[in-house]
Amino acid sequence: MMKIIGIETSCDETAVCLVEAQGEFGPDFRYSVRGNALLSQAALHAQYGGVFPNLAKREHAKNLVPLLQKALEEAGELKGPEGPVSGAPLVPLKSLLEREPELLKALIPFFLKFRKPAVDAIAVTAGPGLEPALWVGINFARALAQVWRLPLVAVNHMEGHIILSLMEHTHIPKSVSTSERLSSFEFPLIALLISGGHTELVLSKKFGEYELVGATRDDAAGEAFDKVARLLDLPYPGGPEISRLATEARERNIKGDFTFTRPMLRDDNFDFSFSGLKTAVRKLLESREMTDELKLQVAREFEECVADVLAQKTLRAIESFDANSLVVGGGVSANTFIRQQLAKCLEDEGNIAKLLVPPAALATDNAIMIALTGYFHAQRGDFAESDALRAVGNLKIDM
Ligand code: KG4
Ligand code: ZN
Repeated sequence: MMKIIGIETSCDETAVCLVEAQGEFGPDFRYSVRGNALLSQAALHAQYGGVFPNLAKREHAKNLVPLLQKALEEAGELKGPEGPVSGAPLVPLKSLLEREPELLKALIPFFLKFRKPAVDAIAVTAGPGLEPALWVGINFARALAQVWRLPLVAVNHMEGHIILSLMEHTHIPKSVSTSERLSSFEFPLIALLISGGHTELVLSKKFGEYELVGATRDDAAGEAFDKVARLLDLPYPGGPEISRLATEARERNIKGDFTFTRPMLRDDNFDFSFSGLKTAVRKLLESREMTDELKLQVAREFEECVADVLAQKTLRAIESFDANSLVVGGGVSANTFIRQQLAKCLEDEGNIAKLLVPPAALATDNAIMIALTGYFHAQRGDFAESDALRAVGNLKIDM
């Protein structure tokens, strides 16, 4: 049995959790979410129309200690000191957190007030993501590891999305749970990772081994949702907003007299491109008067266009690599219509692969995905040296 703290700060969610897990990934694997705390900065970034890295960094620094405290409390692991408190082990923190003065200020009283929880390791996102944001999480993790003398695990955020989608989550909508397991599925799997920064097709033949088989050549799917939302005067993040309008358009049977070309659908590869689609939306909007009706029409056609391309290219990858499972992860996988299209495509082909999607509440960034992936690596003795741990903005999944 292992208890592991997960820390996620790669973009605009600050998240900390405590997960308890046992067994190797397989039928005997069990995990419990003991404590889980998350704060989204989306509303704050909305005024800039996207994530503003230095603002994200400041907010992470402000929120990490309160979130850790909340997660530990939920887990019953927030306890006062047993004996007299000494600040001596905290001295090296000053140099470790030289560039995070705000975090240092919050951490010192925290360490003096609470004793080391019964935890075995600290897992933190090392990339991909916004480097200033990643660094805060990493330095926070290093500080915890140093003071509590715990090993560190560096987690690839995209692997986190995959691993999370492979789990059962009977606890949702509750945040904590006991005795969850892996979903039943078979390798090889194709993972469609769709988020604000990524659109990737990944092939995996076993846990921990990944091959990138396709990616976007320009904008990510989530980025396209966010940019088109901006063209439609909708707030950030645009995905849920567009999805809301598109759903309304379908319900009310509102459809425009235009279509957008499905980008790269006929190309003989597994790559994507969404920047031309955004341009097509912009050109259309320039030629017409913006009305609520037009917004509904554009949202619907745009969402259907993205869903078509994602579903058809994914299906082609499943067929080419004889995959038995399709794993979907990343913020855009919260999109109901895209999920439905993927399910429908698989069904039309006689359910050639089992579809695994995360509950919508865990499709966007969270710390549970980081703790679970960290557990997998910790089990294999794959720990990170504190001094060598770096934020890598463009960290790849297949290295
Ligand atoms: O995985 P994620 O939380 O953060 C990154 O790692 O990027 O994904 C965020 C992205 C944003 O672009 C957001 O607009 C998009 O996911 N998103 C959606 C939906 N919910 C979030 N896109 C389409 N439909 C949704 N329902
Ligand atoms: Zn993500």
